[in-house]
Amino acid sequence: MTNGEKTSVLITGGNKGLGLEAARRLGERGWTIFLGSRDEGRGRAAADKLTAGGANVVLVPLDVTSNESVLDAAELVREHTDRLDVLINNAGAPGGAVPPADATVDDVHPVYDANVYGPIRVTHAFLPLLRAADNPRVVMVSSAGGSFAVVTDPAQPISRMHELAYSSSKAALNMITVRYAQALPDIKFNVATPGEVANHKFAATDMNRHTGQLTVTEGTDSIVELATLDADGPTGTFTDRLGPVGW
Ligand SMILES: NC(=O)c1ccc[n+]([C@@H]2O[C@H](COP(=O)([O-])OP(=O)(O)OC[C@H]3O[C@@H](n4cnc5c(N)ncnc54)[C@H](OP(=O)(O)O)[C@@H]3O)[C@@H](O)[C@H]2O)c1
Repeated sequence: MTNGEKTSVLITGGNKGLGLEAARRLGERGWTIFLGSRDEGRGRAAADKLTAGGANVVLVPLDVTSNESVLDAAELVREHTDRLDVLINNAGAPGGAVPPADATVDDVHPVYDANVYGPIRVTHAFLPLLRAADNPRVVMVSSAGGSFAVVTDPAQPISRMHELAYSSSKAALNMITVRYAQALPDIKFNVATPGEVANHKFAATDMNRHTGQLTVTEGTDSIVELATLDADGPTGTFTDRLGPVGW
């Protein structure tokens, strides 16, 4: 068993980008990090790096598109702890940015499998461990692209980027978060977007070929804030590092 006094967090897609940076920052606070990675080699390399920096890390092989992998991951975490304080559903797939006129179900399905069904699979499997915590928090890592308010604003560049799968998957994730928050008031469910929506900025990672203007540390500000909410903190919100984002 991992030390039951420590705050624990599971981060999906923790082997690189924002997931890895969130792991580093929460590890610095002395939290136990369950580091999800669909590829064990990449996950091990990331876990070793965090451990070398002093963090307490347990590598969790976890492909969010596989029921079996998610159930195995819950089993593994349960071997280390009888409760999970925080779940960060961070893993995400960008898809191929196929324009709406060309997009087929075959283009959209894998994106939904990672971005929509993935967080549902993982949340469902980890609910018993979350319910055993005193102040359980779930952070859904979404996107400004999932916001109707942002995508329908002509001043936002994303309104002119014609794409179907990714933005609609994140819009679904936003609604899923709200529905969880309403139905499960004992667990905080909040949506984080890594960018600065008002300034049209996002964080440089592999997902955007490092074209983002923000660092991964800036990109994880909203994720860390929602992961560290007090017991009297909000649920059912959508924020970036500057504050509330329109749905
Ligand atoms: N960067 C931004 O400014 C920005 C803006 C809006 C939203 N987001 C969201 O932030 C989250 C993290 O993205 P990022 O920018 O850090 O991109 P990234 O560096 O490409 O990281 C994506 C992570 O998701 C993992 N992943 C993908 N499919 C998976 C699956 N089926 N099972 C488990 N893990 C899987 C990847 O694993 P592999 O290494 O194995 O591929 C990787 O660890 C995503 O949900 C993304 O949509 C990012």
